[in-house]
Amino acid sequence: MTIKNICCIGAGYVGGPTMAVIAQKCPGVKVTVVDINEKRIKQWNDPDVEKIPIYEPGLSAIVKETRDRNLFFSTNVDKAIDEADMIFISVNTPTKTYGIGKGMAADLKYIELCARQIAAVAKNDKIVIEKSTLPVRTAAALKNILDNTGNGVKYQILSNPEFLAEGTAVEDLKNPDRVLIGGDIESEEGREAMEALVNIYASWVPKEKILTTNVWSSELSKLTANAFLAQRVSSINAISELCEKTGADVNEVAKAVGMDSRVGPKFLKASVGFGGSCFQKDILNLVYIARTYNLKEVADYWEQVIIMNDYQKRRFAANMVQTMYNTVSGKKIAILGWAFKKDTNDTRESAAIYVADYLLNEQAEIVVYDPKVTEEQIYSDLDYLGSRSGDANRQAVTVVNSPMEACKDAHAIAVLTEWDEFKQLDWKKIYDQMLKPAFLFDGRRLLEPNTKKEIGFEFYAIGN
Ligand code: NAI
Repeated sequence: MTIKNICCIGAGYVGGPTMAVIAQKCPGVKVTVVDINEKRIKQWNDPDVEKIPIYEPGLSAIVKETRDRNLFFSTNVDKAIDEADMIFISVNTPTKTYGIGKGMAADLKYIELCARQIAAVAKNDKIVIEKSTLPVRTAAALKNILDNTGNGVKYQILSNPEFLAEGTAVEDLKNPDRVLIGGDIESEEGREAMEALVNIYASWVPKEKILTTNVWSSELSKLTANAFLAQRVSSINAISELCEKTGADVNEVAKAVGMDSRVGPKFLKASVGFGGSCFQKDILNLVYIARTYNLKEVADYWEQVIIMNDYQKRRFAANMVQTMYNTVSGKKIAILGWAFKKDTNDTRESAAIYVADYLLNEQAEIVVYDPKVTEEQIYSDLDYLGSRSGDANRQAVTVVNSPMEACKDAHAIAVLTEWDEFKQLDWKKIYDQMLKPAFLFDGRRLLEPNTKKEIGFEFYAIGN
């Protein structure tokens, strides 16, 4: 089966970059990314390619090359579904905020809406691909909806979870560690559908890196991969506090531990805590699934990863207050970095939101600088928490366009995103413009400590 026409529902952080790379690597395939969010589609189609809604290094160049050649962005979901041989579902699957499983389970309403829309529109056989991260066994529910509400056409459901990391999405998509494809390996049609998707990726990914499994293994692998990654961060963060009490240095401990080839060096960086849209929601989902199967010990084990992460954010903020003589009321605190990590404009679950919220509850005045995050986004993140009114947030928080401006007359600075540019700042000049003692809290272990202490900063870094 040769695929000529691909549709992707969901033009977000996964759908956009993933389809841009497929379009670039498979020039003979027409790729249409659709979304119900008109503003987002308009931004993807902005003639100025630097204004696309997602910032990822290298992405705008690919969009420039492929857009209107074989990559299209549209709000006409029905048309794209109708024309496609292969449909990726890449919509959001946030944690439920209501009803059964509230605060834990993944909310599958967007996925189900997609399935119903596909069923209503499709007039010929389709391969439907779960690109979103989904609870194990969702494919069965999708198949049920498609088979029972459709026009009698045949569907093959594949699971093809995405392992890209924001900030390095393009590089990860071009050179993935592996591509995972789960499908109905028992049937001829299932194997054909899997082969069709394998062939798309094989245009640029070496065959030995393309894994095929049964659907349930594929679905569960994505949740497990995120749980393992987040678990490493919480593990080293747990040790960071012990380092602070004992005089050990968490960077030295991480290096010594990571040089064991069984452990490996990556993802062992102590910090103010992990953020991003995925780790927390996927672990909560894993915990919820384990609970629904009555696997209490399994659920409790993974839940601890989240408990540790929440604690780390709180601990960082509490330490700021304590260090500044137990009060930050009326004090100006500069927050450098709002994105959940460098090289992305995504702020979902960013540690900065929670640290700022904690400090605002202590009546601090906050000034934020981030090179890629908009003022509108920062206020919307704080408003979403509901800790205080929108007006109160706008009164206590100022967003500025330069780090110098953020730090001027500040009592303290908190570095909360590891943007490279923060390393190059003129720290002496910043120090001179601050109130004294000038506190500098490094939540990312980004800055070299000795030079900052020599300048005169009261310097605090996680795990030191
Ligand atoms: P996102 O929120 O950036 O994008 C999802 C898009 O889907 C939104 O623009 C929304 O308007 C659209 N949408 C929702 N329902 C729709 C419908 N019925 N019809 C058309 N469009 C609809 O989400 P993101 O970050 O791209 O994540 C998507 C999925 O991929 C999630 O399941 C996530 O867990 C998973 N994932 C995310 C990664 C990440 O780094 N962001 C990495 C790997 C997986």
